[in-house]
Amino acid sequence: MSFGAFKRKSPYIVGNWKMHKNVRESLVYLDNLAPHLAKSQAEVGLAVPFTALIPVIQKVKEMNLPIHIGAQNMSDYPEGAFTGEVSGEMIYDVGATFVILGHSERRHFFKEDDAYVNRKVKRAIKENLDVILCVGETLEARSENKVKVSLEEELKGSLEGLLEDHFQRICIAYEPIWAIGTGRVAKPEEAEQAHIYIRDTIKAMVGPEVSEHTRILYGGSVKPETAAGLLAQPNIDGLLVGGASLSAQSFGSML
Ligand code: 13P
Repeated sequence: MSFGAFKRKSPYIVGNWKMHKNVRESLVYLDNLAPHLAKSQAEVGLAVPFTALIPVIQKVKEMNLPIHIGAQNMSDYPEGAFTGEVSGEMIYDVGATFVILGHSERRHFFKEDDAYVNRKVKRAIKENLDVILCVGETLEARSENKVKVSLEEELKGSLEGLLEDHFQRICIAYEPIWAIGTGRVAKPEEAEQAHIYIRDTIKAMVGPEVSEHTRILYGGSVKPETAAGLLAQPNIDGLLVGGASLSAQSFGSML
């Protein structure tokens, strides 16, 4: 099950658990999410901690749940003496189908720059993983009217050297940094404008065919009450949900 391009018609809603939930909590969550998945019109994904990947994927298979399971980060190397790292091959091997790359928390706390993210994106595609690439401006960039420039820079840097075909495996997540975990969600029109910039940038990079079909998700303090308004925008093709995905009830209600 690959996502990415050519599937914009159905919304894609992804939960990013970040560093939350042990194995037991993860499995209980799936039991509670299952009834919501059965009713969902959306395509659904969950990015879980490395330690939960194997049990979660096993249970998803047993319960035959329609959901993609992915990781939240990976190494840019195929293998080697890199203590503490996890390779794309290892992630794919346990049955995960996608990986989130370039999340602002990784860019900020772990000093990942565009060139590093770019190497990871290329590595993920080589390992047959789909990618959710995160981009988003700081509050400072927004207040200085530099949203477009800032998004362009991140997109061009993180996607440098990728060809049209590679975009079949790539979703973009627009996550304005000022909206992540702050309770301050972007207004639907504000987010829509940024999504248009992103689509235009992709168009300039690889042409209209790809840009028309690439899914662009919004992330940053999405709650059940704000999900529908965001999804109603023509260029918002899905959501990347952090805090509100931690409860199966609240995540399920968005589906
Ligand atoms: P919050 O929904 O908690 O703001 O997190 C968003 C996010 O970073 C998803 O990747």
